[in-house]
Amino acid sequence: MAVTQAIPITRHPFANGSYKQMLIDGKWVDAASGKRFETRNPATGELLATVAEGDKEDIDRAVAAARRAFEGPWSKVKPFERQNLLLKLADLVEKNFDELSQLDTLDMGAPVSRTRAYHLRAVGMLRYYAGQTTAIHGETIENSLPGEIFSYTLKEPVGVVGAIIPWNGPLTATIWKIGPAIATGCTVVLKPAEEAPLTSLRIAELAMEAGVPAGVINVVPGYGETAGAALSSHHDVDKVAFTGSHVTGQAIIRASAGNLKRVSLELGGKSPDIVFADADLDAAVPGAAMAVFANSGQICSAGTRLFVEQSIYDEFVGRVAEFGRKLQVGNGLDPNTQIGPLVSEQQLERVTGYLDIGQKEGAKALAGGGRVTEGALAKGFFVQPTVFANVQDNMRIAQEEIFGPVISAIAFKDMDELIKRANATTFGLGSGLWTRDVSKAHKVAKSLRAGSVWVNCYQAMDPAVPFGGYKMSGYGRESGKQHVEEYLNVKAVWIKTG
Ligand code: NAI
Ligand code: MG
Repeated sequence: MAVTQAIPITRHPFANGSYKQMLIDGKWVDAASGKRFETRNPATGELLATVAEGDKEDIDRAVAAARRAFEGPWSKVKPFERQNLLLKLADLVEKNFDELSQLDTLDMGAPVSRTRAYHLRAVGMLRYYAGQTTAIHGETIENSLPGEIFSYTLKEPVGVVGAIIPWNGPLTATIWKIGPAIATGCTVVLKPAEEAPLTSLRIAELAMEAGVPAGVINVVPGYGETAGAALSSHHDVDKVAFTGSHVTGQAIIRASAGNLKRVSLELGGKSPDIVFADADLDAAVPGAAMAVFANSGQICSAGTRLFVEQSIYDEFVGRVAEFGRKLQVGNGLDPNTQIGPLVSEQQLERVTGYLDIGQKEGAKALAGGGRVTEGALAKGFFVQPTVFANVQDNMRIAQEEIFGPVISAIAFKDMDELIKRANATTFGLGSGLWTRDVSKAHKVAKSLRAGSVWVNCYQAMDPAVPFGGYKMSGYGRESGKQHVEEYLNVKAVWIKTG
């Protein structure tokens, strides 16, 4: 493993140590309680900002503002105007893209080499939603009732949306929640993750600059157990759009029961990535490695269960380990960094805990296996890219979401048995396979119980292509036409003309 030195942080215009308020009804305000919390750089421990800490009272204020906006002039805003707002916001995000991607890097650690690559997922996504805005329409439907009675459908915004997002990609997560809301005419109260609230606040500033009316987008930073719980149980919220852990997803479903609000969940995974002996191994080695190591493994669809055909297992897993050892680990602001820190001390403890569990279960760490303790990086939450060999299906490191740079490499022989084993997980978000055999690719792609299957690639994503889970990875889709539908109600209208 190569280690870069932490570079001095030139003061970021937003993460400059100052105090940030929350956005309610178009105004920047303090928490009603006056409370604040700190957000720090996980690479260095440096204080980036103090942030207004919202709780139930602030959520109540924000939901009331979102309701007023939804029932007020926003409901009269025509699709073309909402489209223009999204295009303006896209332009502003594009203009400030370096600043925003650095803000993600500072607040949660992902290297700029990665956050800069999010252009399509951020700016492109806003432009895609802009296109969707004028494509929303109901249908006229022939019915079979006697007499003359005409039927058609209207697509209407679902109403006030509570959006709760995690810290592993704040820029895209924020855009993926507010974009479809503006496209459909909903209003939003967004609660960013306590670990990384800054990018959402900066995007909210840009949304105001773009001319999004007061109350349409509200951002209330705060903790999950207080602000998040208040939002998901709120009786005047019509839908919760959540991204995060399955445990919190379950809490959100329970909290939603009071008013039976609509829920969409984009949760975690333990995704299989399958390498057949006939694959192009020169492509599969970096592909399978980065399917896990990207973002230090803090990606919901990471291909963490690496199934490798027995005949190439030793060679292939050895090559992946060698690839992992060569990755440049360091401060994400360094353009050469490939692997940044984990987001927090809590995640560091969780991931190193799994490294111990893996060793105790009898897996063998061919690369990594511990925290980075050298030089300046000792101050941050860095974990070595780790490859565990000799992993068995029933080990905890093969079953539980680790959310760190940890590959569990498992051998397989028989194809039918492989499919059963690959599907033997409670999750179903991503999956991958590497082969030169087209029929095998189709057969396996059809057999995997997961929302995405990547063949000879991993983690490909596009605004127009739906993304989401099977099983305990959640329900609902983000990106694609389906995403906008999640924010719409269908109304049937009957008119007797006879
Ligand atoms: P989390 O699911 O607890 O947090 C995600 C968001 O939910 C945050 O905004 C948080 O404040 C909020 N939240 C927490 N408890 C809540 C509650 N009771 N009601 C409403 N909102 C609540 O995830 P956390 O604690 O950050 O990470 C723990 C583990 O979860 C990770 O190690 C990873 O395995 C998994 N995770 C998965 C993600 C994914 O994209 N699939 C993203 C983040 C975490
Ligand atoms: Mg949590």
